[in-house]
This record gives sequence, structure tokens and C-alpha cells, in this order.
Amino acid sequence: ALPEKVKVVEVGPRDGLQNEKTIVSAETKIHLINMLSESGLPVIEATSFVSPKWVPQMADQVEVMRGICRKPGVSYPVLTPNLKGFQAAVEAGATEVAIFGAASELFSKKNINCSVDESLQRFDEVMKAAKEAGVPVRGYVSCVLGCPYEGKVAPAKVAHVAKSLYSMGCYEISLGDTIGVGTPGSMTEMLEAVSREVPVSALAVHCHDTYGQALANILVALQMGVSVVDSSVAGLGGCPYAQGASGNVATEDVIYMLHGLGIQTGVDLSKLIDAGAFICRTLNRKSNSKVAQATCKL
Ligand code: HMG
Ligand code: MG
Repeated sequence: ALPEKVKVVEVGPRDGLQNEKTIVSAETKIHLINMLSESGLPVIEATSFVSPKWVPQMADQVEVMRGICRKPGVSYPVLTPNLKGFQAAVEAGATEVAIFGAASELFSKKNINCSVDESLQRFDEVMKAAKEAGVPVRGYVSCVLGCPYEGKVAPAKVAHVAKSLYSMGCYEISLGDTIGVGTPGSMTEMLEAVSREVPVSALAVHCHDTYGQALANILVALQMGVSVVDSSVAGLGGCPYAQGASGNVATEDVIYMLHGLGIQTGVDLSKLIDAGAFICRTLNRKSNSKVAQATCKL
């Protein structure tokens, strides 16, 4: 059975923009986040508190956090890889954070410069500080259906990392198909393994659309009881440490599918399309959302 309601987590301002070569102004990011807030999205990942040497595009995180209009009821989580990032995030006004690990050793090394075990130790420090500060923490696992450096990733490894993050205290675990190589077959197998260790109500799927499988993968996840879906407006993005991976599945396309299934999201699709059009105009680029491009109307 499909869920009645799905929480869509918008990651465009972070995952969508982090890989852009040309620096996007803080003003543009703030305007985008404000438009996304107005569309009714419940969660908008705003930025990340990572090293500006590693991800220059996110160097304006403080300005972005200070500049956005926070809509009551909407949360604005930010990525924090370590205690330093966590402290800076809280100081800038973040009230929710996300830690991000991987199911692949080589990806962990390339992305956050440490092994999976070392990352779990760092995250434990973040978690302790977050508990003290009353800040909820989301956990990401990257490369759940394949790694750009290691190839196939065993579902058991994904389950292990997901369980570690959940046991540590993450309220939700987002399973990232970072390079978009999964299919409904591999998604099913992976979710079966993970849901033996983490309750399915605490799972989210985070699909990139490199191989055009994202919506199909999301649909099987919904059928298996997942009710949280990450997506990026206009299908923007990609990870700087996953060359060749395309953007996340477009939020517009996810919302269209969910509404077509009779699932509530609280999102106004036309306002969302406006937000996507705004950022595409600014980046001087065509939208990766099929729904935003479509001109035939129901
Ligand atoms: P490191 O070089 O190992 O860090 O980087 P370090 O602790 O040795 O410190 C080196 C320098 O970085 C020092 O500065 C630190 O102060 C500074 P220096 O003395 O050289 O001037 N530093 C920081 N600066 C700002 N914020 C911080 C911070 N920490 C240390 N938090 C580190 C380790 C984790 C910092 C680095 O590897 C990093 O920033 N990585 C982030 C990579 C990233 O953002 N990747 C994209 C997000 S993940 C993703 O997209 C996948 C996802 O969407 C899910 C999916 O699709 O699967 C989530
Ligand atoms: Mg991603």
C-alpha cells in the first residue's frame, strides 16, 4: 500500500547548487529558498557548513542562513561534516543539521577525507553536541546503490552504516543513490536489507537521475513503505566528488507523480515550477524537470 502523505525534502539550494562552477550569489540563493518556502515544501536543505576549499559554492553559508525568511512550520537543515561545521551552523542560526556518511570507503575518503569508521566517530561528536543543544540530526548514507570508485556496493554495508547512524540518534536516514545507477531491482534489494535494521518510517530515499531510473526507484520505495523523498528543484545538481553523476530527481516531477497517485504533499506545483524557472533563468540553463518543460496540460 502507498503512503497517504509524503514529506518531500527539497535539497536544491544545497545538493543542487554545490556543484555549480560559477559562484551563485547569496542573494540568488536566498531568493530561491524563499520561493521554495512559499511553494509549501516542508523541508528545505539550505546550505552546508563544509570547508570552502572543498566546496567553494557553499562558502556563503552564514549569509544565506541569516538572509532567508523562515516560514513557520518549515525546517531548514544544513550539512555538517564535523564538530567545527556544527558549531558554525548553530552560531549562524541553524536549528537542524545533517551528517553525511557513505556505504563506500573510497567515496568517504574522497568526499570527507576519512574512512567510514572515522566518519562515524566524528558524527558521534556532532551528535553529542546536537543532543545537548536540542538540535535534530538527519543522517545521510551515500553510494547506497553504487559507488563511482568502487562499483557495486553490498546492501549489507548500507544496512550497517544506516543502522550506526540511526543508533547514534539520527531521526531519519536518507539513502542516497549518489550516482543514479540504481534500478527498481537494486532499490528493492537494498531497502529490504536496510529495513531489517532501521524502521522504514525513519527512512528517506535520495535519488539522482543519471540513468533515468529515479522516479521508478522512488515508486518502489513508496510501495515498500518509505514516505520521505529527497529531490531538487529543476533537477539541479550533483556531487563534486561523483563525476558524471547528474542532478537529483526534479522536485516538480516527484510532486506531479505523488499527486497523480493521490498522495498529499502540501506543495503547490505551480509555485514550485516558478521557483525552478527563477533559478534556471539565473543560471542560464534549461530545466531538467520534464514537468517544468511540458507544455501539454491536463
Ligand atoms: P580535511 O581537510 O580533512 O579537514 O577536510 P581538516 O579537519 O584536516 O581541516 C582542514 C582545513 O579545513 C582547516 O582549515 C579546517 O579549519 C577546515 P585550514 O587550517 O587549512 O585553514 N575545516 C572546515 N572549514 C569549514 N567548515 C568545516 C571545516 N572542517 C574543517 N566544517 C572536511 C574534511 C570534512 C572538512 C572536508 O572534506 C569537507 O568539507 N568535505 C565536504 C564535501 C562535501 O560537501 N561534499 C558534498 C556533500 S555530500 C553529497 O552531496 C551527497 C549527498 O547529497 C547524498 C547523496 O547524493 O548520496 C548528501
Ligand atoms: Mg545528493
